[in-house]
Amino acid sequence: MTSIDRVICGNDDALAAGPDLLVRNIGQLCTLDAPDAPDAARAGPRRGAGLDDPGSVGGAALAVHGGRVLAYGPQAALLARCGAPRAVHDAGGRCVVPGWVDPHTHAVFGRTRQDEYERRLRGETYLQIAAAGGGIQSSVRDLRGRSDDDLRELTVARLREILEYGTTTIEIKSGYGLSYHDEARMLRIAGDAAAAVGLRVVRTCLAAHEVPTEYRDRRDDYVRLVCDEILPRIVDEGLAERLDVFCEPSVFDLEQTATILRRGRELGLRAAVHADELEPFGGAALAARLGADSADHLIRIDDAGIAALAGSPTVAVLLPGTVFSLGLRGYAPARTMIEAGVAVALATDFNPGSCPIASVPLIQSIACTQMRLTPAEALAACTVNAAWALGLQDEVGSLAPGRAADFLVLDVDDVRLVPYHAGRNPVREVWRDGRRLVAR
Ligand code: NIG
Ligand code: FE
Repeated sequence: MTSIDRVICGNDDALAAGPDLLVRNIGQLCTLDAPDAPDAARAGPRRGAGLDDPGSVGGAALAVHGGRVLAYGPQAALLARCGAPRAVHDAGGRCVVPGWVDPHTHAVFGRTRQDEYERRLRGETYLQIAAAGGGIQSSVRDLRGRSDDDLRELTVARLREILEYGTTTIEIKSGYGLSYHDEARMLRIAGDAAAAVGLRVVRTCLAAHEVPTEYRDRRDDYVRLVCDEILPRIVDEGLAERLDVFCEPSVFDLEQTATILRRGRELGLRAAVHADELEPFGGAALAARLGADSADHLIRIDDAGIAALAGSPTVAVLLPGTVFSLGLRGYAPARTMIEAGVAVALATDFNPGSCPIASVPLIQSIACTQMRLTPAEALAACTVNAAWALGLQDEVGSLAPGRAADFLVLDVDDVRLVPYHAGRNPVREVWRDGRRLVAR
């Protein structure tokens, strides 16, 4: 791990004139910036050894202006170049890191599904429960029967908790509506609830999460409905920036997935794919070939899938909380992927069925002990690479000059304590755009 021992500044005159905010007395500042990396490495997500470098500055200060990072560096050196700040905040010798970016959630839903949790513990599998009318279909029935107000209230409460765990940017998928009307409702509520809480949000239309029961015997008709009606109307109304498809043999096959991804591309949507979760099926390779920003899950990815991702900008978004929550044995082969040169990110997959975990710090713990990521790799996977997975790398995920001043003051002085203390919330303060949203 290299440490940065000089001031990195985006605008010397603005720094000399005095920033809006100076955060001082930072014991360990993890910038996730890489000012000395070659341009080629900075032009893409972190891979290989690049994932293991948090861009640390010890005894640091951070200057913020206009809601953006202006400069950072060793405190004495930064102060020597810094005019009088309008506000000063003392970090008390603690760690400061970028706000977490969670690039895969299903955070709009009605009831929780602890009944299925218990059924799985008693021996049924996720697929058996789904085949018996549970699973995604049960959340669809529940959501279709709920009022907007009810759903919004539930979502706001969940997002508040998510913000307290340090997530400042969240991706939220639809996918429990499976009709234009209910998918649009979910995406509107996702946007409204995130705005109410102060989270930065990216909305993803996952109309292709499952085939609704009313289309069970004419699955291709549902694919046509998604392509010809649901996606175009969602785009017209500005309700989503991305689309996603659950690509599995029992849900949407490779051809149906490709049809939907191509339609999304015509409509200007960025894309993700739920891929190779239950079986090695070629979903990751398809995502890479069709230029998706991410391929997600990948528990059962094979060598061909790993090679396809390694040779592409598509980010592998791993969701170890799902494996943990389902009580499965096999995690995604993260080490093999990292060593092959795949760009790896982490996300919660927060949803009522397969993963009720909303805490990014807990996901880091699981990633470290179960997939053998180092704490620094887990940190990069939840910040800079997660931002790449959403196409937001120029906005969030690192504290490089010019990025949004979204950062966390942790209650620890060594960032390895974040995954080490599994199950505890290490977040003391949450700042977004240079304003403090949470103080615990
Ligand atoms: O990412 N795999 C599909 N979708 C979710 C599960 C959603 C649910 O069970 O409600 C997932 O794990
Ligand atoms: Fe998911």
